[in-house]
Amino acid sequence: MVQANTRIKITVPQRSYESVIESGLLANAGPLVREVLGKGKGVFVVTVEPVRRRWGNKLMVSLAAAGFDPEILEMKDGERSKKLASVEQLAEKLTRLGADRNAAIIAFGGGVVGDVAGFLASVYMRGIDLVQIPTTVQAQLDAAIGGKTGVNLRTGKNLVGTFHQPAIVLIDPAVLSTLPAREFRAGLYEALKCGVIGRPELFHRLEGIRVKALRRDTKALEWVLAESVQLKAEVVSADEREGDLRRVLNLGHTIGHALEAESEYKRFLHGEAVAWGMIAATNIAVSVGKLEKKAAKQIVDAVLSFGPLPKVKAKSKKIVRLLQSDKKTSNGIVHFVLPTAIGKVEIVKDVPEQVIVQAVDELRNLSDQ
Ligand SMILES: NC(=O)c1ccc[n+]([C@@H]2O[C@H](COP(=O)([O-])OP(=O)(O)OC[C@H]3O[C@@H](n4cnc5c(N)ncnc54)[C@H](O)[C@@H]3O)[C@@H](O)[C@H]2O)c1
Ligand SMILES: [Zn+2]
Repeated sequence: MVQANTRIKITVPQRSYESVIESGLLANAGPLVREVLGKGKGVFVVTVEPVRRRWGNKLMVSLAAAGFDPEILEMKDGERSKKLASVEQLAEKLTRLGADRNAAIIAFGGGVVGDVAGFLASVYMRGIDLVQIPTTVQAQLDAAIGGKTGVNLRTGKNLVGTFHQPAIVLIDPAVLSTLPAREFRAGLYEALKCGVIGRPELFHRLEGIRVKALRRDTKALEWVLAESVQLKAEVVSADEREGDLRRVLNLGHTIGHALEAESEYKRFLHGEAVAWGMIAATNIAVSVGKLEKKAAKQIVDAVLSFGPLPKVKAKSKKIVRLLQSDKKTSNGIVHFVLPTAIGKVEIVKDVPEQVIVQAVDELRNLSDQ
């Protein structure tokens, strides 16, 4: 059966590639991978146990049917495995399996797998082909698009990394059916973020949506993912390497990262910290006179309507200190991405400390309600 799918082009200086979005796409991955890689490539699927167990077979069967003789490599699950040691272990496994410069890696999992396997592909034999098949909301609408790869150090997150664009990104919303509900919702805050940054229609569609219902509504889910990917694709195509333009994607991430760091990455899932960060950015935008109260209320209500968030307990002064040591700070100046309307943001560099303190106080107040 021929199904309509959405193809979104990402154009970067080295190459351009597509991301294909379609429910059930996994069973069709083989021919698409073959289309971009050609015949006779050794393909090595890097994944984690929860993904392999549920979806591995479907992918492997499809790859085999397209003439590949795929190997599967498992790495340990979780953010703590996003480290150089995992890259080294996987690289050694690749050599033992006979992977040469003509091999290709398929990153099959959430953002952790995407970042580690992407990094591995960029350094193994000085760089081999990569295909991204993301399996979380976070990875489908964000991590797998744009070519950033990397691992954490004990001294901080994502401190070692590369840019390595994939040959294709295959997004199958059907795989999200096995994702834990909390992970699903956390990823959806990033979709809402995309709406606030530049896709008002997406924002309005997500406003007041029932998250549980969206999960089951394949068509709606495809649309939400496609809109978010489209926004990221546009931004990345205009600016691959984090100039001011790409920075807009960090809406909610300034405070979000600080909240994650303050709670030692235990209290919040990334998307949940971003959700709080978006509320803070919205309130800051009002305080500095960049956003009308009515639009601000709409954004805050939309964020809170998705469901409960883990409480913010951090002291505001501590968050301010953390902001000053964040890598997005250049020369000690904190950059904020602030909404100026629904679908519009601006980068602001001179937010007074008192305004930031107030915004974090407000997160604690909201947490206590
Ligand atoms: N490279 C980028 O541009 C970029 C952008 C955003 C985030 N990231 C990175 O992404 C990472 C977070 O990614 P994440 O939120 O996907 O977390 P994750 O990769 O840890 O996945 C979350 C959990 O879901 C499980 N899982 C994945 N797919 C599943 C499925 N279909 N069914 C059941 N379980 C499934 C995983 O095994 C894991 O336990 C962070 O390290 C972050 O830095 C990178
Ligand atoms: Zn994010």
